Amino acid sequence: MTDAQLTHTGAVRLYGPEFQQDPAGLYARIKREYGPVAPVLLDGDLPAWFVCGYREVHQVTSDSQLFARDTRRWNQWDNVPADWPQLGFVAYNPSLMFTEGDEHRRRAGAVSDALAEVDQFELRTLAEQAGDRLIDTFAGTGEADLMEQYASTIPLLVTAGMYGMPEADIPSLVRDITLSVNADAESAAAHQRVAEAMARLVELKHRQPGEDVPTRLIEHPSGLTDEEILLDLVVIIAAAHQPTSYWIGNTIRLMLTDDRFATTLAGGRASVGQALNEVLWQDTPTQNFIGRFATRDTQVGGQRVRAGDLLILGLAAANADPQLHSCGGAAGNHAQMSFGHGEHGCPWPAPELAEVIAKAAVEVLLDRLPDLTLAVHPEQLRWQPSVWMRGLVSLPVTFTPAYVPLGGR
Ligand code: HEM
Repeated sequence: MTDAQLTHTGAVRLYGPEFQQDPAGLYARIKREYGPVAPVLLDGDLPAWFVCGYREVHQVTSDSQLFARDTRRWNQWDNVPADWPQLGFVAYNPSLMFTEGDEHRRRAGAVSDALAEVDQFELRTLAEQAGDRLIDTFAGTGEADLMEQYASTIPLLVTAGMYGMPEADIPSLVRDITLSVNADAESAAAHQRVAEAMARLVELKHRQPGEDVPTRLIEHPSGLTDEEILLDLVVIIAAAHQPTSYWIGNTIRLMLTDDRFATTLAGGRASVGQALNEVLWQDTPTQNFIGRFATRDTQVGGQRVRAGDLLILGLAAANADPQLHSCGGAAGNHAQMSFGHGEHGCPWPAPELAEVIAKAAVEVLLDRLPDLTLAVHPEQLRWQPSVWMRGLVSLPVTFTPAYVPLGGR
């Protein structure tokens, strides 16, 4: 047994039935029993530290020298089976996600610069058009699954727009990104096709530069190679897709199930922003993030952590930290940890772009289908089994069938 396995004897499993039934309840129990940093077991009982105190998540994410991002630092690699279900989240590749120090600053700086030039008004228009086109496909029927038919596609369509992708390539990209995030037999091949599509896109943008993210990365003064650009384009689109989809889905769910939003649903523009913010505090799409690796033996939250130990960022647990809320009204502000923090946090201005997309998606839907109603009892809604993401499997709704323009938009 390794040191980490010894300290984790009897630790709480961050998977399985208790986790599935009530993750928030489990986080609260872990915090009560162990404090802000707890020994936990991942799938296959691999040991990790669960950082669930708000202050401790802030501490770990702020110190990238001591808590680093390169997954090759993990001291459990000898115990990781080849078919470990979480492998996709820790298998190293030289994208900006896993680089460190100056190299990370070079890569993340270029991504931030490229995203900062996205015109947020144009982005809003792109998101509205994508929303309208998707709603047209089901508006006449009076029923829909808003996860499958709406929330899970809008962020991809909008990101493909930000990438200046040829229209003809977008449907296969949407299909492959969707397949690549399910950890199953098809996902590796789908991921490979996404990488190939990005390589073709980079090649196209060399020949035909445009007002888009790939062109800005190619022209960026940091001198990124084509290989670096395509890896980082894959990271950006994957990072943008699922959390934003789930943010949209979780927000629609909140608005359809909570009486505070029901009265304003029809003309509910004013409350969409509030609902989006509440979801980030109470039902964040990025509930846990894997993670950081200690670069030397150290202590955090009263625990002795060894070099190479994995620390999981308990973002939902940090948002719910009673210490934070006892010092007054945190939920009204934007200090939640849902976008991570520090050098590897969701890069500025990505959270703002995500909010533009999510807000447009919810508002267009409510405008077009104002009498939207949940088609099942709220208790019947099922959550994805992921330990990292919190999103609905499906969101079935009914509504008065609406007019769809002939011939589409
Ligand atoms: C336009 C949409 C988005 C884009 C382009 C985007 C992009 C990215 C990228 C490139 C990273 C990797 C940063 C790095 O390792 O240096 C990242 C990390 C992250 N993003 Fe986003 N993202 C988007 C939306 C979201 C949303 C909606 C959420 C959650 C509500 C989110 C939460 C996170 C988190 C938790 C991390 C990891 C933070 C950490 O390790 O501290 N992102 N994002």
